[in-house]
Amino acid sequence: MTQKKIHIFLFAALILTALCICTAFASGNNLTQVKKTVALQEKAAPYWDAYRKNQQVGETRSLVEYQKSLGYALQYPFLGQKAVDARIAEIVQEIRNAFEQEYLPALADEDAPADAAAPILYLGYESYLAEGEQLSIVFFETHEQGDAVSPHTQIRMVHFDLTEGTEVASEDLMWADFAKNASAYAISYFTSTEPYCTGLFGNYETLLAPDAGRFDRFALTEDGVLFYFERYDLFPGSYGVVRLLIPYEEMVTKEPPAPEPAAEVSAENRRMVALTFDDGPHPTHTTAILDTLEKYGAKATFFDLGSLVARYPDIVRREEALGCEVGSHSYDHKNFNKLTAEEIQADIAATDAAFQAALGKSPSAFRPPYGNCNANAKNAISLPIYLWSIDTLDWKSRNADAVMANIKAEGDLDGKVILMHGIYDSSAEAAAQLVPYLQEQGYELVTVSELISAKQGEAPQPGKIYGYSYFQ
Ligand code: NI
Repeated sequence: MTQKKIHIFLFAALILTALCICTAFASGNNLTQVKKTVALQEKAAPYWDAYRKNQQVGETRSLVEYQKSLGYALQYPFLGQKAVDARIAEIVQEIRNAFEQEYLPALADEDAPADAAAPILYLGYESYLAEGEQLSIVFFETHEQGDAVSPHTQIRMVHFDLTEGTEVASEDLMWADFAKNASAYAISYFTSTEPYCTGLFGNYETLLAPDAGRFDRFALTEDGVLFYFERYDLFPGSYGVVRLLIPYEEMVTKEPPAPEPAAEVSAENRRMVALTFDDGPHPTHTTAILDTLEKYGAKATFFDLGSLVARYPDIVRREEALGCEVGSHSYDHKNFNKLTAEEIQADIAATDAAFQAALGKSPSAFRPPYGNCNANAKNAISLPIYLWSIDTLDWKSRNADAVMANIKAEGDLDGKVILMHGIYDSSAEAAAQLVPYLQEQGYELVTVSELISAKQGEAPQPGKIYGYSYFQ
């Protein structure tokens, strides 16, 4: 460029910048909006960078904007092939639409707090080329809203045949024994390699079975088939999205497979979890929980309040009829650490009377309100005292998905006692997901007393506190 040309270029750039700023003001946007967009761009940069090293194909296009109170920080590849680029644009638009549908109704709600943080959609991608013509694009979609929601990444992949410019379904890329070979390799790799072998969920053989639907999510690369497993798919949430590259030579069947020895199910390897529901019975939500337990033939333990046992005896009788354990959670949820010995005795007597009237017998166990049980309280109680080892915080989140996420993040649940509450809609909803989920994972759902007897080979002792360290 000559000196003169550079000057003209700089001058043109200056005019353009001025024009942009003017347009921003004129269109009703203000400097705050511009600053917000720049800030979002900066915030998105590390997110995008995480995928950069795996962008083998296409030019990166970025789009950062706020629309209808929602923030967008999107990156996607541009191939310069009309049909392919149109399809990519369509997919990005689909992701935007779904995001809008998920968050806009809540923002339009009159009860929504005016200062709520804008939901933000981050989109990043990886792109791979195999055999010079087979393109796989993997999109990573993360939603964020203030600090309230922990970011969760979803994956979506699309394949193209670049010689034709056409989209190819993943099933059409899978050859004979594709899922079977992937399954065998994945199981052997994850069970023998750190850090995967320590975090792998106990029922990995089911999760990684060829027909479990986890092997049609891949990209074809130069070196092999790259599989993606979403957060909580096989490992606790801290593992994030897990990638596994399987070399092509491992993806073809070489010899007839050796027959697998049948797994033996003995008393020791029965896997058990005890669900517990406090503060009920509740006419609607406890009933919904019982419907779920009945549907799946599962059991749980209810720590009921004497005052509510007196009010809803039919529900308590149904708890027992379904084989559940019915324990006491005091008469009306007082903090036992603040009561005198006399007050504790009066509370126990009133609770006992309510249980006798409803069930014709005393509660089988006791769980102190707030988990508070000092020496004074402990001495007064002649029932086994059951605390818990996993707190779902269902009373705090009031969100079934959050409860599920909390439990999945715990890893192996064998022998654990899970604390929930029977008085929230969200907890009943969580139970409806949790019960079949745990059974699919191979857990038997038992009462706390059954768990103690089966796991420790001892009968529950009156006046003994069974707490966190016991239920490990
Ligand atoms: Ni309670």
